[in-house]
Amino acid sequence: MDQDSGKVVISLCMGSACHQFGVYGVLPVLRELLREAGVEDQVVLKGAFCLGPCTKGIVLQAGKKQITGINPETIRKKFQSQLLPAIRKQSGDPHEQPE
Ligand code: FES
Repeated sequence: MDQDSGKVVISLCMGSACHQFGVYGVLPVLRELLREAGVEDQVVLKGAFCLGPCTKGIVLQAGKKQITGINPETIRKKFQSQLLPAIRKQSGDPHEQPE
């Protein structure tokens, strides 16, 4: 959670390994998914240096929740199953689904 805005901070790794895995193909899809889900106003999307687990595919972090194994093919599924619930949980959205 961003202290100033109260928004959920999503950090997308832009490190060299994640670059190799295709993070620049994931970024526009992620932006589109955030907009489609109507949560773009609840988040701050930032680029990050290496988040640690470089061998596990592209990594992003939403608050304290780290999501690995992202690539241009899995981003939609990971968004629905992991990222969107994390955003809703951390932002206090009443539509939060149980994990
Ligand atoms: S380069 Fe992305 S987790 Fe290390």
